[in-house]
This record gives sequence, structure tokens and C-alpha cells, in this order.
Amino acid sequence: MNYYEQHRQDYLEGLKTFLRIPSISTLSEHKPDIQKAAEFVRAELEKAGLQNAHLIEGDGNPLVYAEWLGAPGKPTILFYGHYDVQPPDPLDEWKSPPFEPEIRNENIYARGSADDKGQTYILIKAVEGLLKQHGRLPVNVKFLVEGEEEVGGKHIESYVAGKPALIKSDAAVICDTEMFAPELPTICVGLRGIVYGELIVQGADHDLHSGVYGGAAPNPIQALAEILSALKDREGHIKIPGFYDKVQPPSEKEREAWARLPFNEQEYKEKEVGVKELVGEPEIPLFERLWARPTLEVHGIRGGFIGEGAKTVIPARALAKLSTRLVANQTPKEATGQLQKAVLAVCPKGVTAEFRPIHSAPPSLVNPDNRFIQAAAEAMRQVFGKETVYIRSGGSIPIVAAFDEHLGIPSVMMGFGLPDDNLHAPNEKLHLPNFFRGIEAVARYLEILGA
Ligand code: BES
Ligand code: MN
Ligand code: MN
Repeated sequence: MNYYEQHRQDYLEGLKTFLRIPSISTLSEHKPDIQKAAEFVRAELEKAGLQNAHLIEGDGNPLVYAEWLGAPGKPTILFYGHYDVQPPDPLDEWKSPPFEPEIRNENIYARGSADDKGQTYILIKAVEGLLKQHGRLPVNVKFLVEGEEEVGGKHIESYVAGKPALIKSDAAVICDTEMFAPELPTICVGLRGIVYGELIVQGADHDLHSGVYGGAAPNPIQALAEILSALKDREGHIKIPGFYDKVQPPSEKEREAWARLPFNEQEYKEKEVGVKELVGEPEIPLFERLWARPTLEVHGIRGGFIGEGAKTVIPARALAKLSTRLVANQTPKEATGQLQKAVLAVCPKGVTAEFRPIHSAPPSLVNPDNRFIQAAAEAMRQVFGKETVYIRSGGSIPIVAAFDEHLGIPSVMMGFGLPDDNLHAPNEKLHLPNFFRGIEAVARYLEILGA
């Protein structure tokens, strides 16, 4: 048994303690848990043998920093993760409570197990193992762990934009993505960006009796539905003028690589997504729709009467939460403007409509032709025993674009989640063999880089 195999039980206990903290960044009543999670990460980094472990306070949730800089002449790696999690609702769909981690057939179930506490813990334990075994690391290492990734918080970005000497490094390493399939080592080289906001539709200045005024008064819920259906057609084409102008199609090489990925569309459709039919732009292949095309999605609608029974009212206001995912070379600023303009242009008469942005992040693409990504592919190949594949992902990790823009460093996204890990959904899990192999792969990575 190697060192890492001997310590599996300790890793599980530590991870469970981390997962018991309900550090939900979008709910203000969980502020104390955010603080607790930040402090937990700081203490773990110190215990791992890193130096200068401290919280960086600022406008937003604390960042956690730690370093080990005892390898002069060797590269410096900046490890990134996030200790905040999504809300667990709907609670009654969890088989075990979201903040009481439970192991069931080789998976650990809890909110944050894959996204991203489990994967952040992988990074910490990999470094800890090397330090405990050898008293040193093969390269220099810095950690920067944030607590508002899930809400698009700006603390880390404004910190990074200041280019502080403290985080100067040669590459960022991020463990917050997924493997394409079980057992298949995967590096993610592209993420979509996002603009998230609220569409607010105002009709009359007060609620109206629907019998007395129906036929004369505008209905903001109907108007909201009309606006939404004008923004995207029934085939999934976004009808915002100019929206696709800057969209960069994937290269032929990338398209071919995607077509070679082991994939069963039937299984994806029925088991993973759980639908009878997939939708989206019919002329665009699936992976391109998911990874290289923008989206427009509604997340929630509020308005009018939704209580028990019936109430005949024409409500004064309606609201929809919506987002658009962006791909290179779209920018959040331009996309926001285009969306706002399109909303005004299609708004039916009698109501006013406005899109108010809440948060945004640019898309990112990383060129895999550098030694940091090549070494990661090799480390994963060695530990998983299979050739590493390169994919993109449809999700967003805002800091990746900021590392590129402000620090000029590539992000190495070696993820250990699985497609069925239920990120942001009930019964989120992390596959334990991935957790353990992830720790060994990251350690192997540092050894390869330092050799
Ligand atoms: N880790 C995810 C993003 C992700 C998921 C990347 C799966 C690749 C594969 C991240 O925590 C996330 O959920 N990000 C948000 C960002 C947003 C709130 C700014 C997202 O994508 O919705
Ligand atoms: Mn994440
Ligand atoms: Mn997430």
C-alpha cells in the first residue's frame, strides 16, 4: 500500500467534516457557515504543511491563501478551488440529508461533494501527501480558494485584477470540472461564459379584476411569455440580433476529436438527461451545441397567483430569471446590451420590460500546447491507465478568463467529477475511486512538472 492508499480513511473523515458545513453563498443566513468553511480550508492548508496560510478579506466572502515556495528555479503552480456551494433544494428529493455526508456504493453523497469541496480537497491532500512523505514539493505551490464562485461574486476577480505579487505563478490548476466518462481521464480546455439576470415586466400599476378589466388591460405574464418566445425560436435559435456574430466555430481538429469520444447518445438522452428527445439547433452537432454555442435559458418565473385554489386577477408585474451562456469571442458586455435591446424591441404594447443583469463572466478557451497541460495529461494517463481526452464544458468558472487576462497564465482543468454527479441538483455525489485517484494524479502531476 502506498502512502495515499494508507490514508484513505483520514481523507474521507476530513472531507466529511468539510461537507457538513452548509456554506451556501447565495443565502445570507449562511454567512457564518461561509466563514467556517473558509477557516476550515485555511486550517487544512496549514495542517498540510503549507506556509503563510491566511484569509484575504475584502469586498465579498474571504479568499483563502497558502503557499510553499521551497523549490527555487522550479515553476510555481496556483491551485484554485471554491468552498461555497449551491442551495440544496428541493430537499425532499435527497435520499440522505445534503449536509450529512453518506457513503453508498463507492459514492459520497452531499452538497458540494463534487462541486467543489471534494475536488478542492483533492488538491490539498495531494500536496499534503508529498510534503509528509518527502518534506518538500517538486515545484512551488500557491493556493487561492474562493467562497463566491456559485454566485458570480467579484471578490476574487478584483483581487486577481490587482496582479498582487503574492499570487504570481506560471499556471493555474483547477479541479472543478468533469471527466467525460467513468475511468476516462479528461482535461477541459474551454468553458462557456454567462450573463445572468432578471427580466421584469410591468403592466398596470396595480393588480386588476380579470373579469372587469380582461379585454382592456395588458397582462404582464402573457407579455413575459411573448418576450421569451420571441427571443428564442422553437428550433432553439436565439433571435437576438447580432448574437451569433462573434461566435467562433470549433476548429476541424477539435470537431474530429469530439466525434471520436466514446459516446452513446441514446443512453445520454434517456439516463443522463432523462428525456425522450434532445432539443437545440438541429443543424449543429450535440457537443458543439453544448460547448461552442450560446444558450438562452429561463430559470424561474414569478408573477400573479400561485396559491391554492383560484383567484381571478390580472397581476401588475411578472419576473423571469434568465441567463445566456456565452462562447468565444462573445463578451458579457456586448451580449448584455444586445439582450436588453432585443427585449425592448419585442416588448408587446401596454407593458414595459427590462433586463437587469445580476452577474456575468466571459467565456474561456485554453490552448493545450503548453507543458503544464501536457504534464497533466501524462499524470492522469499514468494514474488512470488510459489516454487523456480533451473536451470543453458548457459550464462556467469565471476565474479562468481572469487568470488569462490579468495574470497571462493558462488554466489546467483536470476534473474528477462524473457526468452523473448531480451538480447543483439533489443527491450530488463524488465517486470515491475518482476522489482517491484524483489525489494521486495531482501528486503525480507535481512530480512530473518538477522533474
Ligand atoms: N464547477 C462548476 C462549473 C462546471 C461544471 C464546469 C461542470 C465544468 C463542468 C461551477 O461551480 C459552476 O457551477 N459555475 C456556475 C457559474 C456561475 C454561477 C457564475 C455555472 O456554470 O452556472
Ligand atoms: Mn464548481
Ligand atoms: Mn457549481
